[in-house]
Amino acid sequence: MPTIMETNPPPTRHKDLLSWVEDVRALCQPDKVVWCDGSQEEDRRLRQLMVDSGSAIRLDEKKRPNSLLVRSDPRDVARVERRTFICSRSKDDAGPTNNWEDPAAMKQKMAGLYRGCMRGRTMYVIPFSMGPVGSKIARIGVEITDSPYVVVNMRIMTRIGQRVLDVLGADGFYVKCLHSVGYPLDGRPDVAWPCDPDNTFITHFPEERLIMSYGSGYGGNALLGKKCLALRIASVIGRDEGWMAEHMLILGLETPDGKKSYVTAAFPSACGKTNFAMLVPPKALDSCKVTTVGDDIAWIQPGPDGKPRAINPEAGWFGVAPGTSCKTNPNAMESCRRDSIFTNCALTDDGDVWWEGMTDEPPEHLVSWLGEDWTPGCGKPSSHPNARFTAPAGNCPCIDPEWENPDGVPIDAFIFGGRRMSDIPLVFETRDWNHGTFVGATLSSEQTAAAEGQVGALRRDPMAMLPFCGYHIGDYFRHWIDMGAKFGAHKPRIFHVNWFRKDRNGKFMWPGFGENLRVLLWIVGRCRGNAGGTDSPLGTVPRHGDLHWEGLAFPETRFAELMSEDRERLAEQVHSNDDFFNGMGDRFPSELKAEEETILRKLTGAP
Ligand code: GTP
Ligand code: SPV
Ligand code: MN
Repeated sequence: MPTIMETNPPPTRHKDLLSWVEDVRALCQPDKVVWCDGSQEEDRRLRQLMVDSGSAIRLDEKKRPNSLLVRSDPRDVARVERRTFICSRSKDDAGPTNNWEDPAAMKQKMAGLYRGCMRGRTMYVIPFSMGPVGSKIARIGVEITDSPYVVVNMRIMTRIGQRVLDVLGADGFYVKCLHSVGYPLDGRPDVAWPCDPDNTFITHFPEERLIMSYGSGYGGNALLGKKCLALRIASVIGRDEGWMAEHMLILGLETPDGKKSYVTAAFPSACGKTNFAMLVPPKALDSCKVTTVGDDIAWIQPGPDGKPRAINPEAGWFGVAPGTSCKTNPNAMESCRRDSIFTNCALTDDGDVWWEGMTDEPPEHLVSWLGEDWTPGCGKPSSHPNARFTAPAGNCPCIDPEWENPDGVPIDAFIFGGRRMSDIPLVFETRDWNHGTFVGATLSSEQTAAAEGQVGALRRDPMAMLPFCGYHIGDYFRHWIDMGAKFGAHKPRIFHVNWFRKDRNGKFMWPGFGENLRVLLWIVGRCRGNAGGTDSPLGTVPRHGDLHWEGLAFPETRFAELMSEDRERLAEQVHSNDDFFNGMGDRFPSELKAEEETILRKLTGAP
């Protein structure tokens, strides 16, 4: 038995927290326990430790100040949905879209994996706040982990340390988040990226608000504040308390008349949330200004007047690196210009990072994410397609002045979107809340590299929450219907967008990125009552003349093609939901069944 050395005394009198930490210590058997205070000194020390141990490379201090590059084990590069479980007491409460295991059985399995799993390592206790510290909408978690990489990432992605324990007090509520990379050191040397891919489990106990993750050090599997707490557990808390935890960006649009509107948008993983959240207006429309509140998650509660108000529970971006450039997203590039952590990107000869799409011309030589020599013609990507940067939101030039407002920002519209190569028009407005909920419930998108699976296959991803809803998806749809009633006259209008439609030659029909402002202007115009449109079976669509076209030659015929609806095909797609919906039995809200009938009637022209 190694001696237990507490490097610092526990900085809290919270009895439940102290006894949980002690239980975990006894189970995982680390060499020492460190309570993270969130200080700069602690961060500096941990980064140095990672560099010294060979698990991180310090980037050139001039080119990329205060930044690290980390390469994961090639078997641990994305979320593992197959091994993500919702362990509610009743199987039925997890629903048809989640893996389920009996909570007692799963806890026993996890205890077996955790026994002695931190031998030879330091156990870090990270108190963190999702949302501005002390905000009524914010929630506190405590993550216990044996990974310094997790600590330095959590320090960027959330608010950590002593100030959180101060708010927690002696008996405040917190979500228990236990994480181990699953690579005890008894006698063997450490490796650069310890993990245990064969035994990885990401498990959630919604009734207890408990998270246990083992075997992976990557992103949403390991930074437990993000998908595990802020979406899976928070979606359950939100259902119980009457609010919403959604996979949505939050942005502000200021128009030349000085008016400001906020909207949220739910796009599946790696479908452009970060890009849309930080949109740079095209030159001809640069009297408009887009500001960012969040790029991935929104917690939305009715304010005192019923108007939805949203906070971003996170404090940083965990953004997809490939494809991000000064052209596609200069604000993200500026966010990660310093103080950032890069995972699975390529290393340049002068100590900086590079990834596919960062510049038109690749460097002549790189060290790839696999640590191998890389040259432009070698036929392999230099970065993993799910390579990510972790960057402080405060570094972002277009961060919204209200982004840390503890009461959130008022929301006028919800936008759904996905990658739909062939069939969905650029934009439409749904008829009302329930129709919008139906459109969200039937959201589908081509699969990306953000999770394991076949890239490109069309998959259903209701509200972009398929991998993130912590309870029965039918109850979640019901909760959406109920929230509409709760927001009352203030309920947001609901839209659908598709930047990804391709023409017969396989080319994107819509220029996208900054040009998406034209669509955003129409959406905000609809909310303000000053943008026109025309009826379609899908809802309301803009005519060519309803959009701003300054500075973009986009002929009416091309627009007609981009907006066209193959009604027969769309009707087939509505029918393709039947099995999914029927599988929910009486948990499927009858309101959505009625919406399905209405849309089918409109698509087939039946009376
Ligand atoms: P998660 O962080 O995984 O939840 O994803 P995200 O939605 O924030 O993804 P992100 O914004 O990083 O998506 C990046 C991908 O979307 C890149 O491949 C971009 O090239 C692509 N993308 C973003 N906006 C557009 C657009 O307007 N048009 C096209 N064609 N591609 C876009
Ligand atoms: C996503 O996959 O939607 C992400 C990245 O935002 S991760 O945190 O790894 O889930
Ligand atoms: Mn995401």
